[in-house]
Amino acid sequence: MKLPSPPLPKFLRPTPPRPGDGNGDGADRSAGNGDGSTTTAPEPKKLDKARGAAVEGTASVVGYLDERTGMSPFLRGFLYRKTPKGNTWYYTLGSATMFAFVSQAVTGIFLAMYYTPDASRAYDSVSHLTNEVFLGELVRGMHRWGSTIMIILIFLHMARVFVFGAYKYPREINWVIGVVLLVLTLAMGFTGYLLPFDQRSFWATVVGVNINASAPVMGPYIADFLRGGAEFGAATLPRFYAIHMLLLPVLIGALIGAHLYLVSKLGTTAPPWVKGEKKNISEEAI
Ligand code: HEM
Repeated sequence: MKLPSPPLPKFLRPTPPRPGDGNGDGADRSAGNGDGSTTTAPEPKKLDKARGAAVEGTASVVGYLDERTGMSPFLRGFLYRKTPKGNTWYYTLGSATMFAFVSQAVTGIFLAMYYTPDASRAYDSVSHLTNEVFLGELVRGMHRWGSTIMIILIFLHMARVFVFGAYKYPREINWVIGVVLLVLTLAMGFTGYLLPFDQRSFWATVVGVNINASAPVMGPYIADFLRGGAEFGAATLPRFYAIHMLLLPVLIGALIGAHLYLVSKLGTTAPPWVKGEKKNISEEAI
């Protein structure tokens, strides 16, 4: 049985013919090239036909996927969610942070192809990556600077949320998820710092872990866990590497998913300078 195809969105519908288009108007569509030859412009009817075929093709792919995944209600809810009146560039800081995270993940995958998490070979593998691998220095630089940029963006995003009062009811849980994301992002920076395994990264990590160990109750246990024992040893570097490239990214990815789900469910808060009852565009439209 053939299922009825879904109606096309407006931007995919073929343009209706304009007066004068098509055959029968007698217009000469050939243009002179100056050397006696002529170039014939494509017939508008042919263009419409090609566009119609492209539109039908796109619609049938979308329809095919929708029938099998039922994703359109989710996409509609996400793409047509409530947005506040007076939206500003400040609202892009969360997405910018997310973009920084994606960039870190992509560059990190390429770095992992060359890095060796072994205390005797890590430094050499990073030198090789930087000096000999094609674009290695660029990708390493993007990852290193990207980590700083992500932390700056996360703080700016958090400041926007705080100043706009977006942490209040009913968004408290999203604020708490955000705080966990901040801690995990800082932990990414801390665990990544050891990986080049030069003198600076080694001693900075020793200091960091010792500071951790001085925290009450849990401190010594966390320090032992990070070192892989009571002292820095052969187990420490692989442990930092596993935490840095597996544990933390998976946790951050899952929490970003929960964060975005709540953002699309609750909508975003209007800026404080927008007054009145009808703060949401969609409420106004109803
Ligand atoms: C990996 C880190 C993070 C990512 C990728 C992220 C992403 C986003 C995005 C895309 C939005 C919607 C657009 C916007 O308002 O900018 C948002 C909103 C929000 N974020 Fe984050 N965020 C992160 C960290 C944080 C942190 C650290 C906090 C606070 C401690 C936080 C609290 C919130 C809250 C409460 C909202 C709702 C804002 C509103 O209703 O206006 N987020 N986040």
